[in-house]
Amino acid sequence: MTFVRNAWYVAGWSSEFGRALTPLTIMEEDIVVFRSESGRAVALTDECPHKRLPLSKGRLIGDSLQCGYHGMTFDCDGACVRVPGQTNLPSSARVRSYPLHEARDILWIWMGEAEKADPALVFDMAAFDDPRWAPHQGDALQIESNYLALADNLCDPAHVSFVHPTTLGNPESEDVPIDCAREGRTVITSRWIRNAPPVGFFKAFGNFHGPVDRWHYYYLHAPCVAVIDFGSAASEAAIGEDERDKGVRLFALHFLTPVTETQTIDHWMHLRNIGLDDAGMGARMNEQFRLAFAEDKEILEAIQQREAKPPARRPVRLAVDRGPNFLRRIVAEMLEEESEPAKETAAVQAAS
Ligand SMILES: [Fe+2]
Repeated sequence: MTFVRNAWYVAGWSSEFGRALTPLTIMEEDIVVFRSESGRAVALTDECPHKRLPLSKGRLIGDSLQCGYHGMTFDCDGACVRVPGQTNLPSSARVRSYPLHEARDILWIWMGEAEKADPALVFDMAAFDDPRWAPHQGDALQIESNYLALADNLCDPAHVSFVHPTTLGNPESEDVPIDCAREGRTVITSRWIRNAPPVGFFKAFGNFHGPVDRWHYYYLHAPCVAVIDFGSAASEAAIGEDERDKGVRLFALHFLTPVTETQTIDHWMHLRNIGLDDAGMGARMNEQFRLAFAEDKEILEAIQQREAKPPARRPVRLAVDRGPNFLRRIVAEMLEEESEPAKETAAVQAAS
């Protein structure tokens, strides 16, 4: 298993959850999500501890979740509050309740140790509160790929020239070197393509008629949040690296949720600094993003299928792998950190 548990993951857009019992699988764990009568989101293990029926096949009675088989009933904390036909409630008859946090119309879930679920660690960015920026939600894209392969893709600007030739990339960027840095648990890969024709996305939305300077900054906050700062400005404006707000600038956000070892959901959305009064622009941009992310999906799923077979040789390593290499190192550190309490327990047991 390669899942980092002590982190916040997107369970879904807030609008996906209501009084219906919504089953989810995250990191191979079956979870049922619903809202209490007051509207608070609740996430419990989606399995009755009696006969293992998914609790999502039961029903909500007020704020209690009743199993659809024998009526065992659980409160929002996962404690059993009723067993029809008997008065004693077995102490083991509880289900896990997952910490949740809701902000920016996104529902986040903590998959690790509950006492470490600090809401201050939930991803956020100042642009959400800045009137110069408009946020717009996209889709929940299901990709038959391990989440780390997808995370690799999100610290890898090099692929854009080849995978997204009609939308986000063009051949002018093929040989432009990529800068790569690690800051804490964030991988930053970036490059500027100066004085080149605009790519399809910025032809559509930038109204550019001559050459542009285009930038890509990929921030991968390990393990599963990516912010792609990209945009274009007319080359004649000669903007500096810190003047990106002068151009047409977007933040494409990707929140990766591992479903299984071979399936990931990418909740993606964007913020933009143009068309703030244009109610249809977000949807039109999403059409372009849908085209582009379907291209990533095709590549990643083909690779995942190949990963099921033993490799015939060691993979060739390239300069463009620096970002993904940083990412894999950070994830390895996070996994190591999570395994430490288990190791301590094993050491204590071995010593006694
Ligand atoms: Fe891509």
